[in-house]
Amino acid sequence: MSNAYQATLQYAQEQDEIDILFPFRERFHFPQHNDKDVHYFCGNSLGLQPKSVSYLMQSELNDWAKYGVEGHFQARNPWFSYHHLFSERLAKIVGAKKDEVVAANTLTVNLHLLMMSFYRPDAKRYKIIMEAGAFPSDQYAMETQVRMYGYDPNDAIIEITPREGEYTLHEEDILKAIADAGDSLALVMFGGVNYYTGQFFNLEKITAAAHKVGAYAGFDLAHAVGNIPLKLHDWTADFACWCSYKYLNSGPGGVGGIYVHEHHYSNPKIFRLGGWWGNEEKGRFKMEKGFIPQNNAGSWQMSNAPIFNMVAHNASLDLFEKAGMPALREKSEKMTGYLEWLLKQITHLPFVIITPSHPQHRGCQLSLLFTDRGREVFEKLTENGVVADWREPNVIRIAPVPLYNTYEDCYRFYEILMSIA
Ligand SMILES: Cc1ncc(COP(=O)(O)O)c(C=O)c1O
Repeated sequence: MSNAYQATLQYAQEQDEIDILFPFRERFHFPQHNDKDVHYFCGNSLGLQPKSVSYLMQSELNDWAKYGVEGHFQARNPWFSYHHLFSERLAKIVGAKKDEVVAANTLTVNLHLLMMSFYRPDAKRYKIIMEAGAFPSDQYAMETQVRMYGYDPNDAIIEITPREGEYTLHEEDILKAIADAGDSLALVMFGGVNYYTGQFFNLEKITAAAHKVGAYAGFDLAHAVGNIPLKLHDWTADFACWCSYKYLNSGPGGVGGIYVHEHHYSNPKIFRLGGWWGNEEKGRFKMEKGFIPQNNAGSWQMSNAPIFNMVAHNASLDLFEKAGMPALREKSEKMTGYLEWLLKQITHLPFVIITPSHPQHRGCQLSLLFTDRGREVFEKLTENGVVADWREPNVIRIAPVPLYNTYEDCYRFYEILMSIA
């Protein structure tokens, strides 16, 4: 397709006409700028609101008004089992069995809960490998986890950095670092897609390398879930967690997600912190002593499900179910490829795209690193109705999301960037 790309509005609109996912755009609310939809490229940060959310929210409010506490069992979607609504749809998105996933808690909380299970260091095996420049919350989680067990983060955490003069990691460097750490390594904890560069890591190979030295492999999928098709079960990843407010469009602070491979959730020796929602369901209201974890990933739940927080999740997962990850990925690769090509036509502004150009190594995010004038360009984009995001020290991230962005959005972005002197 790349040879046929054209930097014209007509070409972009023709691509939209033949895009089978185009109608999904209508299912979302777009913020306005001068009475027009903004060019929204920030779905990697906060996804847009599905229009069905307000109806579904009202219906949940009605059930609360009508049933009070009885809503736990009598609501249209009973609150007692509300989280079960998501398992099948989430399992398809992350490539897992339905018992291996649960929508619960929030991302950083889940990261800590999962590390309580999978990071159990001893004098010999206590190190963690992660990518340098991981999202700060992940860095803080690793740092405080190792401190909790009395280790020095400078010794216990091995960060893999890009080679001199480069921005992204080489797969061979990651695999070598894992092999070199050998039996001192307790855990490989990587982002699926790095939030800053947009690099997608080979989770299958990382998992295999971790297992080879006897370590666990866990992933923060904040920027991967709903962006790139995953096969967590087949890759035998040990655990993963994610948030739902980015590509999964489930609203600010939306419920998080957990995956745990079935080998582990069915192993009672895997320690997990207990809460009543993770206890066996049949004993939940018996109020008895003794935590009996559910025989599924649901055992990492803590509190009763935050229903109002889950309404948007329900609405959005319906759209994912209708669109399907394969079609979303196909469009994503094409549209991101088009936007990348358009950006490469721009020579008067001082930026480079640091996201890998091979579709296998990225999702839909492109990170533009400015050597100069980055903040000024970002502000001009904003004045012209583009919503992107700025990440210190010098990157503008843009994400053409296949569920609601269009080729025309990409063209308009290019046109606005071209017009900045
Ligand atoms: C990669 C990554 N990890 C962790 C977080 C923190 O998420 P939360 O505030 O939901 O815990 C974010 C938030 O954007 C993120 O992008």
